[in-house]
Amino acid sequence: MKTILNVFPTITITNNLNPTITQSSATSLPYPDNYFDAVFTDPPYYDNVPYSYLSDFFYVWLKRGIGDLYPELFITPLTPKSKEIVAYSHKGGYESGKRFFEEMLKKAFKEISRVLKPDGIATIVYTHKSTSGWETLINSLLESDLVPTASWPIETEMKARLRARESAALASSIYFVCRKMERKEIGWLNEVKEEIRNYIYKKLDDLWKEGISGADYFIAAIGSAIEIFGKYRKVMDYEGREVSAGDLLNYIREIVTDYAIRQILHDSISAELSPLTRFYVLWRWTYGEARVRFDDARKLAQSTGVDIERAWNRGFIRKEKEFIRVVGPHERKMEEIGESRELIDVLHKVLLLWKDGRKEEIKEVLLETGYGNKESFYKIAQAISETLPTESKEKKLLDGFLSGRDRLTEEIREASRQTRLFE
Ligand SMILES: C[S@@+](CC[C@H](N)C(=O)[O-])C[C@H]1O[C@@H](n2cnc3c(N)ncnc32)[C@H](O)[C@@H]1O
Repeated sequence: MKTILNVFPTITITNNLNPTITQSSATSLPYPDNYFDAVFTDPPYYDNVPYSYLSDFFYVWLKRGIGDLYPELFITPLTPKSKEIVAYSHKGGYESGKRFFEEMLKKAFKEISRVLKPDGIATIVYTHKSTSGWETLINSLLESDLVPTASWPIETEMKARLRARESAALASSIYFVCRKMERKEIGWLNEVKEEIRNYIYKKLDDLWKEGISGADYFIAAIGSAIEIFGKYRKVMDYEGREVSAGDLLNYIREIVTDYAIRQILHDSISAELSPLTRFYVLWRWTYGEARVRFDDARKLAQSTGVDIERAWNRGFIRKEKEFIRVVGPHERKMEEIGESRELIDVLHKVLLLWKDGRKEEIKEVLLETGYGNKESFYKIAQAISETLPTESKEKKLLDGFLSGRDRLTEEIREASRQTRLFE
């Protein structure tokens, strides 16, 4: 509340210009061509919020209270729904909601470009967790004359808000600065990829230094990549096929995954990791302990080389209806982990033993699997711990285990020396 009150002294400073407020759909603005110096818009983010349905709650009371003062705003019994730009799935399914959203957003962007002066600036705010949410933005943007020339992630959401708990909610939105200009007709995939790679690494460095992390990091990277391929009307591969927004997003995901894993593990050991270990580390960093829709989980898995449909329900990847969850050690059983040699499975086994105070068995497992003398094992444990919040059960187990690490490795070294002596 205090933060909100702090804003009031600033927003009430005006320059005495009387603002004009009009109501219309963003898809048909009541203004002539080339009229505005700048347009700022914060459109709906795909399917995130059912605005009109939420508004109905207030609308019915406002209509009674002040409906006679503004009759033109309260003509309908409930808020108008037909032109609302939201990807609803209840009206005709998921695909039809996606198509509607994309069409309407495209119309709105074309309108912005029409009313903007030739040297004007349009700022578009957007964010979404899902790839579909970004595909629609890219497709709509590419068909307008608005070309993004810069993008910035800005933290717009409160971390402690209800929606952020237990879900991988985003903290930031991407601000796209766009200009009205002609796009280049065709970009060739190999060259565009090269351009993205060169540009994005520098941006990824900056974003990392600024402390942006997890899912927010991915969307900031998507923003930067849109600056590159948004310059072209279409991107083609050398066989003459048009490259879809989805393909470009997969490519960005691969670059970011690779970069993020190297950063999370402080560059040292990422090359020696199995796909499942890469997946686990990246998942914790990106989504923490949240459930994630299948399609997004599949894409993250793909970028680490894991086929999620083959891996689910066999280890730490669990499918729960349309969601995927990556379970921690405290949610697994010893028998189910069995004799697996996968690093994460061994780590989970060790943490379960740690929880029960079975120190001798920890040593046995680490000796027998060979992980006890491997620096990478402890580094991964440390990296996972760093990605988790303080109250996480998994983090507590990891930190407990790591705090006794020096003694443990000393004892393991001694035991392997003894074993060698008797061989
Ligand atoms: C992300 S919200 C903007 C929130 C706003 N920046 C704020 O802080 O309150 C998107 C808004 O777009 C509105 N909207 C949806 N369809 C629209 C349309 N066709 N024309 C104009 N606005 C629309 C929604 O009702 C919602 O208020």
